[in-house]
Amino acid sequence: MHFSNTILHWFKKNKRNLPWRNTTDPYKIWLSEIILQQTRVAQGLPYYEKFVHNYPDIKALANAADDDVLRDWQGLGYYSRARNMHTTAKFVVEQLNGQFPDKYIELLKLKGIGSYTAAAIASFSSNEAVAVLDGNVFRVLARYFGLALDILSNEGKKQFQELANSQLPHDNAADHNQAIMEFGALQCVPKNPNCLACPLKETCIAFDQKQVDSLPVKLKKLTVKHRYLYYFLPMYNSSPILMMRKRGSGDVWEGLYDMPCVESEKPLIEGALVSEFSERFLNPNHQKVLEFDNCFIQYSPELKHLLTHQKLYIRFINISELFFPEFKDWCLKNGYLAYRFEEVSNLPKPIIIANYLASKYSTNSLSII
Ligand code: ADE
Repeated sequence: MHFSNTILHWFKKNKRNLPWRNTTDPYKIWLSEIILQQTRVAQGLPYYEKFVHNYPDIKALANAADDDVLRDWQGLGYYSRARNMHTTAKFVVEQLNGQFPDKYIELLKLKGIGSYTAAAIASFSSNEAVAVLDGNVFRVLARYFGLALDILSNEGKKQFQELANSQLPHDNAADHNQAIMEFGALQCVPKNPNCLACPLKETCIAFDQKQVDSLPVKLKKLTVKHRYLYYFLPMYNSSPILMMRKRGSGDVWEGLYDMPCVESEKPLIEGALVSEFSERFLNPNHQKVLEFDNCFIQYSPELKHLLTHQKLYIRFINISELFFPEFKDWCLKNGYLAYRFEEVSNLPKPIIIANYLASKYSTNSLSII
C-alpha cells in the first residue's frame, strides 16, 4: 500500500494540531464536521470552540433555544446546517437516549448527515473502515491515479468511491482518512501545488503526465443568480429605527432576522426605487403626491455577498421621517417589530447585515464568541 503508507508517514510529520483530532467523542466530531462543511479550518476553529463551550454535550445542544443556536452560528453561512444540527440533536436525545451513533449506517439516518460526514464521524470516532470522499480526497485521488472522470457525475462519484475504498487500510481507517484530507488541504492544493516537494511525485500520474492543473475534472457549471436587495431603515426623531422580522422558509437566511426590503434582478436607479418603495410600503394617496426628491435621505455603499448559487448586492437606505407613520404601519401589519439598535445584537442576522449595523451603529453583533 505505497499510497496509504506514504501519506500516513507524511501526516505524522505535517498534521496540524486541531482540537477535534484529540477526541473520539462522535458528538464533538460531528460538530466539527458540520462546521467544516464549506468552511475553512481557520474560520471554523473559533466556532468549534464556541459550540463545544456553549453546548458541551448533545443534551445541551438539544435543549438550546433555536435563536441561540443560530446566533452562535452567525457568520458561518449555510444556516440550514445549523438548523439540521439542532434538529438532529433533539432527535438523538429524544429517540436515541442521548447516545450519538458512531456507526456509518446509523449516522446516515440522521438529518444533515450525508455519506461524507457519516464516514468521517464513523472512522474518526471508532475506526470503522469506511473511506471518506470530499473535495480534497477527490483531488488527491484524481491526480495520483490519473482518474479523469467528472467528479460531479454519478459514474465519477461511484468510481472515485471504489478507488477510495480500495486504498483504505482496514485497521487504520481513522488516520488514513485524516491523512488524505490533510494531504489535500496542505500539499496537493488546488492551485500551484509544490509538486517538487511531494512525497508521492515519483508515482503520481498527473505529475508524470503534466495533468496536475487539469485534474480533477468538474464539468457542471453553477449558474449564479444576481439579486439586488434594498433594505429600508426609517428615521424617527432623527435616528434610524430597525424594523425586523424573522425570515421564513424557501429562500436564503431561513430563521434569521432582516428588515423590509425591495428586491430586483437588476440594479434600480433612484426614481425606480422610489416607485417600488412607495407602491409597496405607502398607501395609494401618498404614492401619488410623493415628492421623490425627499424620500431617501442616505444610501450605504453597495455591499456584495456571494452565496453558492447567488450573488447578492445590498444597500441600506434611510428613509425620511415624513414616511415613518405609514411605513411603520405597513411593517407592523406584516409581522415586523421595531427595535432599537442595542436590542438587535442578540437576534440572529445574516452576517452582512450584522456587520453593517455593527460598523455603522456600534451594536456588538460583530463578536462571534
Ligand atoms: N475539513 C473537514 N473535516 C476536516 C477535519 N476533520 N480536519 C481538517 N479539515 C477538515
